[in-house]
Amino acid sequence: MNSTDTALARNALAETAELLEKYLLKVLPKADGLEEQVVEAMQYALMAGGKRLRPFLVMSGAKLFSVSEQSALQVAAAVECAHTYSLIHDDLPCMDDDDMRRGQPSVHKKFDEATAVLAGDALLTLAFAILADEKTHADPRVRVDLISAFARALGTHGMVGGQMFDLAAENRELDQSAITRMQNMKTGALIVFSCEAGAILGKADDRRRNALRGYAHDLGLAFQIVDDLLDREGDSEELGKTAGKDEEAGKATLVSLLGVERARTQAEMLIRQAIEHLEIFAEKADVLRSMAQFVIHRAS
Ligand code: IPE
Ligand code: IPE
Ligand code: MG
Ligand code: MG
Ligand code: MG
Repeated sequence: MNSTDTALARNALAETAELLEKYLLKVLPKADGLEEQVVEAMQYALMAGGKRLRPFLVMSGAKLFSVSEQSALQVAAAVECAHTYSLIHDDLPCMDDDDMRRGQPSVHKKFDEATAVLAGDALLTLAFAILADEKTHADPRVRVDLISAFARALGTHGMVGGQMFDLAAENRELDQSAITRMQNMKTGALIVFSCEAGAILGKADDRRRNALRGYAHDLGLAFQIVDDLLDREGDSEELGKTAGKDEEAGKATLVSLLGVERARTQAEMLIRQAIEHLEIFAEKADVLRSMAQFVIHRAS
C-alpha cells in the first residue's frame, strides 16, 4: 500500500456511512405524543452526516477478528449515538457555544437548549440500551465487557472528564503533557473504545487487542491535534462548524502551545507511530493504515 493513499479509507468511510445510517434509522425510537420533539432532535443531529470515523473504526476492527456485521453495526450505532450526544452538549452556550454543527444549526439553535440537553441524554441512554441488546453478542459476558469499557471511555476518566478539563483550562497555560492527557480523555478514549470493541467482540488475544489499542491511542491524539489545526486554519463552510472558536475562547491546545508547524509535526509523528502498531495484522490492516493517513490529510 502506498503510504499516502487515503482512497481506501475514503471508500470505506462512505460504505460505513451508508450501512450505519440505514441501521441508525432502525434503532432510533419512533416519535409519539408530547415527547416527540426530543426524538426529532436526536434524529436531526444523528442524520446530519459527519464523517462516521468511529463507526468505521468499529467495523474495521471487527473485520480483523471475523466478527459478524450485525454485532459490529450494533456497536458502531452505539458509538455514533454517544459521539453525537457529546457534540450536542459540546455546542451548548454553557460549553463551547457553537451555532453550527455538521453543516446545519446546532441542536439548541434549531430547537432550544432544554431539547438539546435532553436529546444528548437520550442518545447516551440509547447507546447503552443498544449494547445491552442480545443482537450485540450472544455471550452476555462479552456484552458486559463492552458496556464496562464503553462506560469508562465516556465517564469521568474519559470523555466527560476531558470535557471538564477542557473548560477548566480555558485561558490557562498548560504544558504538553497536560494537554495530551486532556486530549486522551476527551477524544482519545472513545476512539480507543471504537477500535478495541472489535477485539472484545472477537475475543482476541491480548497481543492483538493491545496492538489495536496502541494504534487507536496515537490516532486519537493525532485526530484532536488535526481538529485543533483545522479550527485555526480551516474554513467554517468546509468544516460544517465555526472555525476560529478555540483562540476566541482561550482553549489550551497543542496549536496554542507549539504553534501550527510544530503541532502538525507532532501529529505526523503520531500517525507514523499509529501505523507501526498495526504490523501484527499485516495487509489485513491496510484500511486502518489508510485511515491514519486520512486523519492527517483531512480538510473537515
Ligand atoms: C469532532 O469529531 C469532535 C472531536 C472529538 C474532535 P468529528 O470530527 O469526528 O465530528 P463528525 O462526527 O465528523 O461530525
Ligand atoms: C470536542 O472537542 C471533544 C468532544 C468530546 C465533543 P472540540 O470542542 O474541539 O470539538 P469541536 O471542534 O467543537 O467539534
Ligand atoms: Mg469542546
Ligand atoms: Mg467544540
Ligand atoms: Mg475543535
